[in-house]
Amino acid sequence: MKVTVVGAGAVGASCAEYIAIKNFASEVVLLDIKEGYAEGKAMDLMQTASLNGFDTKIVGSTNDYSKTANSDIVVITSGIPRKPGMTREELIGINAGIVKTVSANLIEHSPNTIIIVVSNPMDTMTYLVHKTTDLPKNRIIGMGGALDSARFKYRLAEALGAPISDVDGMVIGGHSDKGMVPLTRLATRNSVPVSEFITADRLEQVAADTKVGGATLTGLLGTSAWYAPGAAVSGLVQAIACDQKKIFPCSTLLEGEYGLNDLCIGAPVVLGKNGIEKIVEIELNDAEKAKLAESAEGVKKTNGLLEL
Ligand code: LAC
Repeated sequence: MKVTVVGAGAVGASCAEYIAIKNFASEVVLLDIKEGYAEGKAMDLMQTASLNGFDTKIVGSTNDYSKTANSDIVVITSGIPRKPGMTREELIGINAGIVKTVSANLIEHSPNTIIIVVSNPMDTMTYLVHKTTDLPKNRIIGMGGALDSARFKYRLAEALGAPISDVDGMVIGGHSDKGMVPLTRLATRNSVPVSEFITADRLEQVAADTKVGGATLTGLLGTSAWYAPGAAVSGLVQAIACDQKKIFPCSTLLEGEYGLNDLCIGAPVVLGKNGIEKIVEIELNDAEKAKLAESAEGVKKTNGLLEL
């Protein structure tokens, strides 16, 4: 199993590290345009192998895509991250050009690969890969919901005073401050609806905190987060690499599911060796449907800024 991660910045390096530590891939190629940077990160990470007990080989490459040849899965993290006060949508101008070039280069060397898009605005970048490549829809996956759901579980556990392993919850919709739809009604603590434990107001606050999860960290760190994004990507990569058939909310091309068409947006999917093996349609109530429709409108508006 060979995985390529493009972009050796904080998110890309964190992805490579978590993938390596989980020890399921034979090789991870880390590629960056900055001379020597990916090689340096790869060497530093390789020097943790004996300490952290993994055998995954991590290789760095300065923009040499031949090193990525025959990757089973590729992850695109390249582009600029947001600064405090910026929305993910504001990154579109620079990142669209980068994602288009990077995906073409990757596919040239790995025509059978599965692409995971992390660059922001993520739903629109995922749609861009659909529009500008010939890959089938099951092999183009946007990473957002896995991260947003992890942030949701963190906030739920905090509100409940419970360990995170006791809570479950999912965020669908667009990966944006306004567009996320945390499914509070379906969140549980050890199979009991969380509404049994906390008030509706507190649950609303959990949802609001979840939606600005990335922005809160950008304010604290001065740039966007990397540990949870990296861990979320590694979860998707592992589900595909190990054919786990796990359900994650991912950005996927919808063709009528949830009443939506011609956009990529977060919905629950089954991930296995073929990438997105199924889009799971769960029964939403009217309020949830309305939130998802509004989120889709926002994503479509951003998609409209693409020069296709
Ligand atoms: C975040 C970025 C990865 O939410 O979109 O932290």
